Amino acid sequence: MVRFVLITFLSMALPGSLPTVALAEAGSDSAETSPKAILVTGASSGSGRAIAESLAARGHFVFAGARKQKDLDELNAIDNIQSVRLDVTVQGEIDAAVKTVRESERGLYAIVNNAGVGLPAPLIELEEADLDFIFDVNVYGPYRITRAFAPLLIESRGRVVNIGSIAGVQTRTFYGPYSMSKHALEAFTDALAMEMAKFDVKVSIVDPGGFNSNIGKNIYNRLKEKGLNFDDSLYREEWEGNWVLSGGDLSGMMGPEVIAATVDKALFSENPRRRYMIVGDPGRADATMRALLRRMLELNEDQAYTYDREGLIRLLDEEIAKMD
Ligand SMILES: NC(=O)c1ccc[n+]([C@@H]2O[C@H](COP(=O)([O-])OP(=O)(O)OC[C@H]3O[C@@H](n4cnc5c(N)ncnc54)[C@H](OP(=O)(O)O)[C@@H]3O)[C@@H](O)[C@H]2O)c1
Repeated sequence: MVRFVLITFLSMALPGSLPTVALAEAGSDSAETSPKAILVTGASSGSGRAIAESLAARGHFVFAGARKQKDLDELNAIDNIQSVRLDVTVQGEIDAAVKTVRESERGLYAIVNNAGVGLPAPLIELEEADLDFIFDVNVYGPYRITRAFAPLLIESRGRVVNIGSIAGVQTRTFYGPYSMSKHALEAFTDALAMEMAKFDVKVSIVDPGGFNSNIGKNIYNRLKEKGLNFDDSLYREEWEGNWVLSGGDLSGMMGPEVIAATVDKALFSENPRRRYMIVGDPGRADATMRALLRRMLELNEDQAYTYDREGLIRLLDEEIAKMD
């Protein structure tokens, strides 16, 4: 059962000095015609690392955010990557990163708000400090980064890509804190997209579900720091045998490269979609779609302007037509 809990939890052009290698390979539906400068947060591991490496390998210039010196050094050693010390909860580091990007005189085409953390907990036993920790990274992080780099993105008529999660659409037992943060990121994305449209800055959210990264191990380590003791929990039985408690290994999941490929669409398609879901199995896709449908039906039920079945189908058809 606990295995289930964590698995679902995871559920401008630029100066000519940049190399133009391999950009032609980057997909025929893309506006990826010249090298761009792109900032990726949380590039030390998982999807952030895969996104940074994939962009750099194709000749883009990546400002790769990381926190630990070892990660900064490793990223700096990769062609077309300049690492920047960037904890998304530290305004001083964000300001310094803006200065670094400005001084590089490359402009900035896009930011990828990828950094994220998780911590499973039953809501009635969740400590406020833990909720603060999750929101500080997953919600306030993208807000701070986007606000700080917005002038550069407006100059370049660039892109914002947020890494959400299918947990931003559905939720499960113990998923509450993470899911609340990812739901908030969905709303952030929608409002930002509307507000940035007048500057021709396009905003998307990529919602993955279940891929291999360090997130499971990081969650395990966080729980370990907190003592891994659930004897006094009202949910002791639910914690017992929880998969995350055995270390948070996600190596059986799809690789983070698929997330990087989806981020490409949001970065380089001429008309990027607002949302991209990327999951490794039909069960996750099904659960996510059903969660959305259920929410719609719950809202529709027993209200003054309820739609009957035909009305709902008509609405669906009208919205499908708008997608084209
Ligand atoms: N893996 C999945 O199944 C899954 C599913 C849905 C969504 N996601 C989302 O995908 C994104 C990337 O996660 P991942 O799975 O690749 O996990 P990961 O391997 O744990 O990577 C998380 C990244 O965020 C960084 N980070 C954490 N706190 C930070 C902070 N305060 N400031 C800046 N960076 C910070 C980490 O840096 P350090 O190494 O320094 O800690 C690391 O680079 C997250 O937004 C996550 O919610 C993941």
